[in-house]
Amino acid sequence: MEYVAAVDQGTTGTRCLLFDRAGRVAGEAYETHEQHYPKPGWVEHDPAELWTNTKAVVAEALAAADAAATDLAALGLTNQRETTVLWDAETGEPVGNALVWQDRRTTERVEELEREGKAEWIRERTGLEPDAYFSATKAEWLLDADPVRTDRGATRDRRERAADGDLLLGTVDSWLVWKLTGEHATDATNASRTMLFDIRALEWNDDLLAEFGVPEAALPEVHASSDPEAYGTTDRDGFLGAEVPVAGVLGDQQAALFGQTCFEAGEAKNTYGTGSFLLANTGTEPVASDHGLVTTVAFQRAGEPPKYALEGSIFVTGAAVEWLEDVSLVDSPAETETLARSVDSTDGVYVVPAFTGLGAPHWDGRARGTILGITRGTRREHIVRATLESVAYQTRDVLEAMEADSGEEIESLRVDGGAVRNDFLCELQAGILGREVVRPALDETTALGAAYAAGLAVGYWEGLAALREQWRVDRSFAPAMDGDRADARYDRWGEAVERARDWARD
Ligand code: G3P
Repeated sequence: MEYVAAVDQGTTGTRCLLFDRAGRVAGEAYETHEQHYPKPGWVEHDPAELWTNTKAVVAEALAAADAAATDLAALGLTNQRETTVLWDAETGEPVGNALVWQDRRTTERVEELEREGKAEWIRERTGLEPDAYFSATKAEWLLDADPVRTDRGATRDRRERAADGDLLLGTVDSWLVWKLTGEHATDATNASRTMLFDIRALEWNDDLLAEFGVPEAALPEVHASSDPEAYGTTDRDGFLGAEVPVAGVLGDQQAALFGQTCFEAGEAKNTYGTGSFLLANTGTEPVASDHGLVTTVAFQRAGEPPKYALEGSIFVTGAAVEWLEDVSLVDSPAETETLARSVDSTDGVYVVPAFTGLGAPHWDGRARGTILGITRGTRREHIVRATLESVAYQTRDVLEAMEADSGEEIESLRVDGGAVRNDFLCELQAGILGREVVRPALDETTALGAAYAAGLAVGYWEGLAALREQWRVDRSFAPAMDGDRADARYDRWGEAVERARDWARD
């Protein structure tokens, strides 16, 4: 039996799934890694731990499927995007921790770019709204940090060492590909999240590299997301014991779009994880946003032009449910469904979970979490329900912006991620959007997308039509809420967001 393995290196953990030709899961493994919060607003991961866990989950998933590495036709890799790693090309050791996409330490630098009037030219080249979320200011911070002592005891500026190719820089996919195969490579979807990449020319942009002082010598080569050769074969440090082509590499949200078979313009998905990421395929032309969304590469197959997407990144959705747990308002995420259903409404309570600022479409790094409308009669059920509602409202904020930008109606939304097991949330989402919400049978669409990309590249699957055919729906949720009621509540949500804005001070 032959399989395709997919590694999904995410914000909270690393997963490996083995898929068979019918798209069924044959083996699975998952490991979490430590979150480091050295200062308020700083979020780091240890890249060495991410690599150790990657090796562990591949081995465990193979064991679970009773398979050997020689049974793998290809390996696909998908990853938390924007998170930035700096490592030593000679020793293979990371230089400090990775700066995670959620890390806000470079907010002031972004504000400076805005003051200097550089936001528009950054937007034009990269499709991105300048924000500390993206890799560029994280890379700059890593290269500006104290010099590291070399083996011979000398200290040299990090930037100088990077220019000489002694230090390498990349997103998590690059770090893991380098560890797996020895290639310094990334794909166009990951590159499009760095704020250093020209999404039309499909190359690193010299002006941006100069602005952030990033030497091109340190950056990976950019390839298609599905390519049989560009990323090389395992396995450099011998952990697998077989030469498996790494043939698919995509950022995790783009992988989910691909795994939801949103191959054509107008098809959209929303993934509910720590945050939520709504992406709509816009076809072969990048669509610029006037409504606070970003334009990004959706995927690229070798030898073909890329497909683009509009994306709305919402920073906090699932993390708001985690927070309910942290403050003991619920014992488990599953309990939110029972509690939310036990009341008819939030009784006027609105929760705006802007814990790390607001992402799309508001982009306010200084917004903070806010609870409004509490009365003496407010119970935890209302706060729990209002938190779930905030997930649905934030999704509507992005979907409306998307339709305004593309001029096209998004008729239905495919959903995935941990939170969609919550039927209440899916019903609520359909009601608030006034659109059908479709939940696929396989909820690991991110890993599936990476497997699809890798499997297509090596001919394990024939083509996109074959993938569409094997993809299955679990349940569709039709909007059951009265439209006027949904609109009235949504308007009030807009007012709540205004109250949450611009709260944080240095
Ligand atoms: O842009 C950040 C995103 O890629 C993170 O996704 O699923 O790892 O939280 P996730």
